[in-house]
Amino acid sequence: MCWFLLLLSSVLIVCGANVCPCERPELCLQVHEERDFEVFVFDVGGKIWKSYNWSMVTTVATFGKYDAELMCYAHSKGARVVLKGDVHLSYIVDQDNRTAWIMEKVNLAKSQFMDGINIDIEQAVEKGSPEYHALTNLVKETTETFHREIPGSQVSFDVAWSPKCIDKRCYDYVTIAESCDLLFVMSYDEQSQIMGDCIAMANAPLSQTLNAYDQYLDLRIDPKKLVMGVPWYGYDYPCLNLSQEGICSIAKVPFRGAPCSDAAGKQKPYKWIMKQVNSSLSGRMWDSRQQAPYFNYKDQQGQIHQVWYDDPQSICLKADSVKSKGLRGIGMWNGNILDYSDETVARQQTAMMWNALLGC
Ligand SMILES: *[C@@H]1O[C@H](CO)[C@@H](O)[C@H](O)[C@H]1NC(C)=O
Ligand SMILES: *[C@@H]1O[C@H](CO)[C@@H](O)[C@H](O)[C@H]1NC(C)=O
Ligand SMILES: *[C@@H]1O[C@H](CO)[C@@H](O)[C@H](O)[C@H]1NC(C)=O
Ligand SMILES: *[C@@H]1O[C@H](CO)[C@@H](O)[C@H](O)[C@H]1NC(C)=O
Repeated sequence: MCWFLLLLSSVLIVCGANVCPCERPELCLQVHEERDFEVFVFDVGGKIWKSYNWSMVTTVATFGKYDAELMCYAHSKGARVVLKGDVHLSYIVDQDNRTAWIMEKVNLAKSQFMDGINIDIEQAVEKGSPEYHALTNLVKETTETFHREIPGSQVSFDVAWSPKCIDKRCYDYVTIAESCDLLFVMSYDEQSQIMGDCIAMANAPLSQTLNAYDQYLDLRIDPKKLVMGVPWYGYDYPCLNLSQEGICSIAKVPFRGAPCSDAAGKQKPYKWIMKQVNSSLSGRMWDSRQQAPYFNYKDQQGQIHQVWYDDPQSICLKADSVKSKGLRGIGMWNGNILDYSDETVARQQTAMMWNALLGC
């Protein structure tokens, strides 16, 4: 009996593998066209994607559970849907293990009618180590396999905001960029290693963000390989002390060699920030040096907090540089965290965040 059930279920799996779940079978076809300007969205699950501005979206990286409805819908809008790829680098130093990992991913992508993969390895790697070479080979071999097995598919790789060993990620950025279709540059969490005073600062200060693109370009990485990632979230820091000048000192939480870090704060979605700013002590303020908004509030225990975030004003300045530097496009972490409710103010704020991706 068990044997029969086992047999039956494997027959179902084998037979069911390539049945198109979409209303129209052509929606299962992978996307082939290249769009001039990439808008790369990370989706972390749920059905909020229905409210995205689909006239802009070109790629959705699905970091939540597989959602066939999302795949069908994205394809109907000419947008790619890509898998998440994440693996412990120590496992894929071995060539057989690496090949097995890649085959598993490409078969998964085929069975789910996906258009590629986003490789998200945020591990510390030492230059020249076995993991360093394994990572470069992983990207190269994944790209070759996907392009061969799924024509027109896209392989992207997530990199830190700067190529200078941020968070001890000393990768072979040049070869990795050459070996895949695009790098998603995570231009956020830029205070993960604070070397100076332990104070609250912007998640992604404008000039530091833009200088780091010049560092990538100075490595002779093709600007058309770079997608700028902007944060749709901010950091909420409890202040040990708020000085007269408005400087918020934060707790010392060390990270990868730095004495303090944004880990002293909590990441908060734009949706939460827009509610909180209205009950703040200060209202929205603008830091002209970092070109970013922030505010102070007091919590129910009487603790003062300082919140740093990005809004349409800070994001559109970055988006303007995407155009002026000739980059491939823009994207965000993550698409889900705006307020997509029917409330009038929320709708306006959400539309403005999407529109800021196209510049000021
Ligand atoms: C292969 O990967 C598995 C985990 O998927 C791991 O346990 C194993 O140690 C790896 N083998 C080698 C030789 O690295
Ligand atoms: C805290 O802020 C106050 C007001 O600006 C300042 O006088 C004091 O020196 C600060 N204390 C510490 C420990 O930094
Ligand atoms: C916040 O306050 C502004 C100005 O008073 C108001 O227009 C807006 O509706 C409020 N937003 C929210 C989310 O309550
Ligand atoms: C969606 O984006 C387009 C630009 O591609 C813009 O014209 C349109 O107004 C946006 N839709 C909404 C609802 O904001």
